[in-house]
Amino acid sequence: MEKHPILIPLLSGGAAGTCTDLFFFPIDTLKTRLQAKGGFFTNGGWTGMYRGVGSAIVGSAPGASLFFLTYDNMNRTLFPIFSSYVSAPGLAHGLTHMTAASLGEIAACTIRVPTEVIKQRVQASKYHSSLAALKSVLSNHTGEGVFRGLYRGYSTTIMREIPFTMIQFPLYEALKRWTAKRTGRNSASATEGAVCGSIAGGVAAACTTPLDVLKTRIMLSEKRVSVRHLVREIVTDEGFQALFKGVGPRTMWISAGGAVFLGVYEAAKNLVTGVVA
Ligand SMILES: *[C@@H]1O[C@H](CO)[C@@H](O)[C@H](O)[C@H]1NC(C)=O
Ligand SMILES: *[C@@H]1O[C@H](CO)[C@@H](O)[C@H](O)[C@H]1NC(C)=O
Repeated sequence: MEKHPILIPLLSGGAAGTCTDLFFFPIDTLKTRLQAKGGFFTNGGWTGMYRGVGSAIVGSAPGASLFFLTYDNMNRTLFPIFSSYVSAPGLAHGLTHMTAASLGEIAACTIRVPTEVIKQRVQASKYHSSLAALKSVLSNHTGEGVFRGLYRGYSTTIMREIPFTMIQFPLYEALKRWTAKRTGRNSASATEGAVCGSIAGGVAAACTTPLDVLKTRIMLSEKRVSVRHLVREIVTDEGFQALFKGVGPRTMWISAGGAVFLGVYEAAKNLVTGVVA
């Protein structure tokens, strides 16, 4: 790993992003078709479940590569710095992984946000292809500028992803350390990594459900509302538990995603390290 600090996270991250998207794409299509106007069968039914997978892969491999490139190098650089300030090693590990994952997320979103903007416009049938959607942003027809057009929603996305990642990654690394210690090995295996990733993803998903509920309500709201006002309204009208609506499916969904994403990452890292090191 030390010898190839760029190549290994780049390739392994790309593999993790691609596998996760390929694996979950049919489910994503299913969801989009169920939600689309006219219903499931008028929007394609069971045919062409992988339609549009190209644009997803174009974004997912580089996004995940950039995430792990940042995460991996920060993971290694920050621990010595944090542990010289705080004496408890558990806390130094936690701070390292929170910071590394947040910086990784900020980096990954420079790719993920523009591809998401394009993909959603194609999914919502505003354009018939990703290329047509891209051309329209590049033509600056809204007058907001090309850069602002591509990065619409960047800060909102970051604000939603950072709390999630700050729970998932410290927990993931702590579970791996605990597993390795219990089995008396240096590090956890890829399969153990997948299980740890699944648990960490599930816990992070459950804890951040209120943010997801707020995001949905903000997006579906007719008029602009402040977050504080919205929280008060939900709690008084529907009770505190309304902030956790959909916690079951969200947790299961993201647990499965965490298992594939981090399991493939660890397996690919072992494979690539074996080949190049
Ligand atoms: C982060 O660093 C620790 C060592 O401090 C290592 O065990 C772990 O595998 C690294 N995480 C990733 C995802 O590379
Ligand atoms: C986009 O359009 C606006 C308004 O017409 C203009 O001020 C701006 O310079 C344009 N930006 C680019 C990058 O073309």
